[in-house]
Amino acid sequence: MLFPEGTVALVTGGSRGIGRAVSVDLAREGAHVLVNYARSQQDAEAVVAEIEEGGGSATAVQADVTDEASVRALFARVRSDHQRLDVLVTNAGVTRDRHLVAMSLDQFQEPMGVNMTGTFLACREAMRIMQHRRAGAIVAVSSSSGLDGGFPGQTNYVASKGAIIAFTKALAYEAAPHNIRANCVAPGFVATDMTKVLPPPTRKKYEDRIRLGRMGRPEEIARLVTFLASENASYVTGAVLVADGGGLG
Ligand SMILES: NC(=O)c1ccc[n+]([C@@H]2O[C@H](COP(=O)([O-])OP(=O)(O)OC[C@H]3O[C@@H](n4cnc5c(N)ncnc54)[C@H](OP(=O)(O)O)[C@@H]3O)[C@@H](O)[C@H]2O)c1
Repeated sequence: MLFPEGTVALVTGGSRGIGRAVSVDLAREGAHVLVNYARSQQDAEAVVAEIEEGGGSATAVQADVTDEASVRALFARVRSDHQRLDVLVTNAGVTRDRHLVAMSLDQFQEPMGVNMTGTFLACREAMRIMQHRRAGAIVAVSSSSGLDGGFPGQTNYVASKGAIIAFTKALAYEAAPHNIRANCVAPGFVATDMTKVLPPPTRKKYEDRIRLGRMGRPEEIARLVTFLASENASYVTGAVLVADGGGLG
């Protein structure tokens, strides 16, 4: 197992998709995983059950990452229940695709709020706990679209994902003196609820642009998150690990 006994990991948006796969993978490698969800309690409880059936340990924890009080309460619980946090994965995210000329301010701000502000709030609270023990790893789930511009209709999402990359690189400077690493994964096109909503011809068009000729699986992203969170990546910080099957851009 990659993680020593007692390791505590928190995955935001751990109830579905990539976050679900990350939660299962971290638990398989020995971490106790706090599976965060905003609304999908049943899904989060199903992730916990799957982890426990596999011999691991996990707890479902509710919090809306856009709500400062909610995030503070979540980390207060981490502190009181565990007195430590070794791994934070900021994965919670949404898309609200719309062409710019038709985009309302709310439609612009929603992905910025969940994706970027949610990352900020969780990282700030996690750093406060991790600094005490002078140890920790943060993995932010960005997107290859934050590097290559994504698709038409994604200015809001792409801006949030590019911001996460810049934020994480800056955080890596502040975290390093405390022996904390901060990295990003930048997945391409992955088969989850987020991409299921696309019409089949659109999906096909995107898949045709991927060198490997298929969408990624959440488990393929999870392995990279676990790597970055583990001591195998002890000399990696401020990095962006792209997993896009050979590129959409
Ligand atoms: N799928 C892709 O192709 C792809 C590609 C690149 C990057 N990504 C990124 O990967 C991450 C996961 O995406 P996914 O495809 O797995 O999406 P998904 O299947 O739609 O799952 C999204 C997760 O985020 C949680 N979430 C949403 N709003 C939240 C909030 N305010 N507070 C806490 N949790 C919240 C959801 O929980 P609730 O159901 O409880 O709200 C859910 O667990 C996102 O950051 C996404 O941008 C995805």
